Amino acid sequence: MKVLLVGSGGREHALAWKLAQSPRLSKLYVAPGNAGIADLAECLPLAAEDVEGLVGFAKTNAIDFVIVGPEAPLTLGLADRLIESGIKVFGPRAGAAQLEGSKAFMKDLAAKAGIPTAWYGRFTDAEKAKAFIREKGAPIVVKASGLAAGKGVILCPSLEEALDAVDLMMVKREFGAAGDEIVIEEFLMGEEASFFALCDGHRAVPFAAAQDHKAVGDGDTGPNTGGMGAYSPAPVVTPALEAEIMARIVSPAVKGMAEQGCPFTGVLFAGLMIGKDGPKLIEFNVRFGDPECQVLMSRLEGDLLEILLAAAEGRLDQAKISWKPDTALVVVMAAQGYPGSYKKGTVIEGLQEAGTVEGVTVFHAGTKALDGQILANGGRVLGVTATGATVKQAQSRAYQAVGRLNWPEGFCRRDIGWRAVAREEKA
Ligand code: AMP
Ligand code: GLY
Repeated sequence: MKVLLVGSGGREHALAWKLAQSPRLSKLYVAPGNAGIADLAECLPLAAEDVEGLVGFAKTNAIDFVIVGPEAPLTLGLADRLIESGIKVFGPRAGAAQLEGSKAFMKDLAAKAGIPTAWYGRFTDAEKAKAFIREKGAPIVVKASGLAAGKGVILCPSLEEALDAVDLMMVKREFGAAGDEIVIEEFLMGEEASFFALCDGHRAVPFAAAQDHKAVGDGDTGPNTGGMGAYSPAPVVTPALEAEIMARIVSPAVKGMAEQGCPFTGVLFAGLMIGKDGPKLIEFNVRFGDPECQVLMSRLEGDLLEILLAAAEGRLDQAKISWKPDTALVVVMAAQGYPGSYKKGTVIEGLQEAGTVEGVTVFHAGTKALDGQILANGGRVLGVTATGATVKQAQSRAYQAVGRLNWPEGFCRRDIGWRAVAREEKA
């Protein structure tokens, strides 16, 4: 089977690594890929958002199956175009990708389907938004409705901050068109978890849970990032909680989307807040998490290609999903300055040595190869991923591998997995 994988992050390196283990794979192309992916697949000079280029390549090269990593091409209609051309695809059509592409759409669906989530209001008028904020009080959360590269969420402890956030989005237009409509919602308390379910349009099956670390600094301090590390399984998501998440959040969403004429195919990623009164939905994403995907792929035992194909072909009941008993943990190495401005082009050494630590795989994110060297080429650059019998063991292996890297211009958090390690030590 000839497969085209779209994307260039650590998520896509992990997907490519797992796909390469499938006996059914005959050829893997990745657009555009990165230096790590280039060891496993043929990388193409096509951007992930180049819908026309990707569809053209798939048609000309008789691609059997396209797997889409990031959300942007999905919201641009890549899956629709491929399906119209008779090419199988893992990932939702644009109508269903609105679950991530429009927070207002997601909140309306949750309200209609009775999914537990924060109360909310949606606004295209700044004065009405401010009146709502004054009525509800602080703390409160202000969100740009559209895609804003993970930056469009402002948690506001005070009324003044919330009113300023409205001005930032709607008057100063900091996030451009993504902030033309905003969602204002309840500030939820609790512990966050990422839950992944595979969907084939009408059916949803649980895949796995993970927890990530969004803040840049140790102790969950500093600005939010795309994610500085993650681990899976997430001990906070017990089997009973998983059943509740499927019954109250995932299944009603999949049913509601099908009823609206937008059946959801792909991976539905529910960002959850686990609080006193059970799990509440923070947001839906229509793709695997990054870096959560790196730990999921490290634990997955089954054939990823078969599983994703079963979802795309509407026969998820036949998918054989099984997991290693291990815990997996990923430590993200980022370029100094991230999530603010950072330098590109610095040299990374010690990758081979890091990869020889037992249970460790180093996934690349923003890297590029030049004259036999690996250079940093983005904010998040490497995902040092380890499996172990316990969280503590996976953590210690990952940091041992980090210690073998020689990249003075990079940094990582030193406490990835602290919640799970504390739970493990208490048990
Ligand atoms: P999002 O981009 O919607 O995932 O939001 C980014 C992060 O902001 C989430 O991972 C949470 O940590 C936080 N967040 C978003 N919405 C809420 C909320 N309603 N209450 C508390 N925290 C939130
Ligand atoms: N790590 C969170 C995300 O991928 O959105």
